[in-house]
Amino acid sequence: MKPEATPKMTVLGSPVGLRSILNSLVAFSIIVSFITFLFYQGQERNMPMAIEHEHQEMQAKVVAHHEQLRVKEAQVQLTAELPNDSKEECNWSTGRWVYDNVYRPMYSGLKCAFIFPELSCDRYGRKDVMYQHWRWQPHGCDLPRFNATRLLEKLRNKRLVFVGDSLNRNQWVSLVCMVEASIPDDRLKIRVFNGSLISFKAFEYNATIDFYWSPLLVESNSDDPIIHRVEYRIIRADKIEKHANAWRDADIIIFNSYVWWRKHKADMRMKVMYGSFEDGDARLEEVEMVDGFEIALKKLTEWLGDNIDKNRTRIFFAGSSPTHSWASNWGGVNRNKCLNEKEPIYKVGYKAASTDYSMMEKAKSYFGTLEQKGICVEILNITELSDYRKDGHPTVFRKQFAVLTKEQMANPASYADCTHWCLPGVPDVWNEFLYGYLMYK
Ligand SMILES: *[C@@H]1O[C@H](CO)[C@@H](O)[C@H](O)[C@H]1NC(C)=O
Ligand SMILES: *[C@@H]1O[C@H](CO)[C@@H](O)[C@H](O)[C@H]1NC(C)=O
Ligand SMILES: *[C@@H]1O[C@H](CO)[C@@H](O)[C@H](O)[C@H]1NC(C)=O
Ligand SMILES: *[C@@H]1O[C@H](CO)[C@@H](O)[C@H](O)[C@H]1NC(C)=O
Ligand SMILES: *[C@@H]1O[C@H](CO)[C@@H](O)[C@H](O)[C@H]1NC(C)=O
Ligand SMILES: *[C@@H]1O[C@H](CO)[C@@H](O)[C@H](O)[C@H]1NC(C)=O
Ligand SMILES: *[C@@H]1O[C@H](CO)[C@@H](O)[C@H](O)[C@H]1NC(C)=O
Repeated sequence: MKPEATPKMTVLGSPVGLRSILNSLVAFSIIVSFITFLFYQGQERNMPMAIEHEHQEMQAKVVAHHEQLRVKEAQVQLTAELPNDSKEECNWSTGRWVYDNVYRPMYSGLKCAFIFPELSCDRYGRKDVMYQHWRWQPHGCDLPRFNATRLLEKLRNKRLVFVGDSLNRNQWVSLVCMVEASIPDDRLKIRVFNGSLISFKAFEYNATIDFYWSPLLVESNSDDPIIHRVEYRIIRADKIEKHANAWRDADIIIFNSYVWWRKHKADMRMKVMYGSFEDGDARLEEVEMVDGFEIALKKLTEWLGDNIDKNRTRIFFAGSSPTHSWASNWGGVNRNKCLNEKEPIYKVGYKAASTDYSMMEKAKSYFGTLEQKGICVEILNITELSDYRKDGHPTVFRKQFAVLTKEQMANPASYADCTHWCLPGVPDVWNEFLYGYLMYK
């Protein structure tokens, strides 16, 4: 939502202060040419989260990197006793983490040409590496073994798009790293930044793997990929077209949307705009954050039902990614958040107290209404496996806009990111799920 400079607001049917709305609108239309300290606070107060990267301007870059990694080729040859490419039906969502320093990680984050610095924990000072060496073992079956070449073949002449927030982007970076190592020739791959869209292309395959920034699904005042107001969030209840134009032609779409609907203050509410400034009938209401989520789901569902070509486009929705900011949940000290956690939680069935499972149930029931039209939205249920991984977050080992100072590193309560995930790491498994669905389901 980028309202014109002098919005005409005819009805103001809410207790929202006019001043705060105007403030946010004005702030929103300011063009900031460089950004130094833009802190998204997410659920975690006072914590500058690693949401944005430095690439503000559109740029097309072929990163020159000569030491491409060949996905541990030697080891992958010896996989006789490794997971079958199983087709059997089984529930991948429940299982356990198995320590595996032979087959994990699947790539080197230090060598991935397209990793983002806020996720590159080993490059920015994280010395323990166990977090890279866990394999997800579902109960009763194995995940299909990921093969980048086979995935790229599957994506030949196709476009896959991740649509959502920085956690979905975390998954996109992971997938790009998982496949780019299989393309050692730098001339055959490219990453392009263009506003809300980041595009990875593998030329030999004419395969595209994109990420599109749209944290609240519908249009909102947080749609700028770098400058997004969070204090006064406003969504437009009935506007998604502008976003949808960016992904309507995709062959595969993976949506997500979760953390942006969580409260980071007890009294936080979502402002919902009906009508439009253009038509002079703009009206604002305030709702509970989770009710805002339903409004967005409703609009997305409607749009998909009316527009998606079900013969062409396969749709996924990625489950909620949990945060680990409250160490007392697993017997730790709260002021450390998830800093210095080196192993997963082993307690079977552990659920991060902060995870709201009901939101995914809601999403599932909205998408269920599309079944009568023959449209299926598949859920990548990655919540439980991620719940266990208190050790998987960047904490203070990341580069935001600059590397953290010593003082900041010594202050995890304010600076540890326990929301996003180090790469290689947990989102690689989310992509193994995606791979499994695409290849076998
Ligand atoms: C692989 O599949 C075969 C037959 O489908 C089965 O006998 C074997 O135990 C499986 N191996 C593993 C490691 O799951
Ligand atoms: C997987 O198992 C969980 C927990 O028992 C259950 O809630 C979920 O519905 C199952 N998913 C499928 C696809 O069976
Ligand atoms: C991956 O798949 C390709 C194409 O099917 C095959 O040639 C290659 O051996 C596979 N790689 C591994 C490591 O299994
Ligand atoms: C390349 O892929 C795009 C989808 O990303 C598709 O529209 C186009 O037709 C493909 N080109 C060729 C030559 O097949
Ligand atoms: C960037 O995106 C716009 C549409 O939003 C498109 O018109 C333009 O061609 C894109 N530029 C590049 C270099 O892809
Ligand atoms: C989708 O495929 C079915 C069966 O092949 C066909 O009847 C239908 O017309 C197709 N729909 C569209 C929108 O192309
Ligand atoms: C996801 O799986 C968990 C168990 O791992 C289950 O409790 C939850 O209901 C599932 N959610 C959905 C939307 O299927």
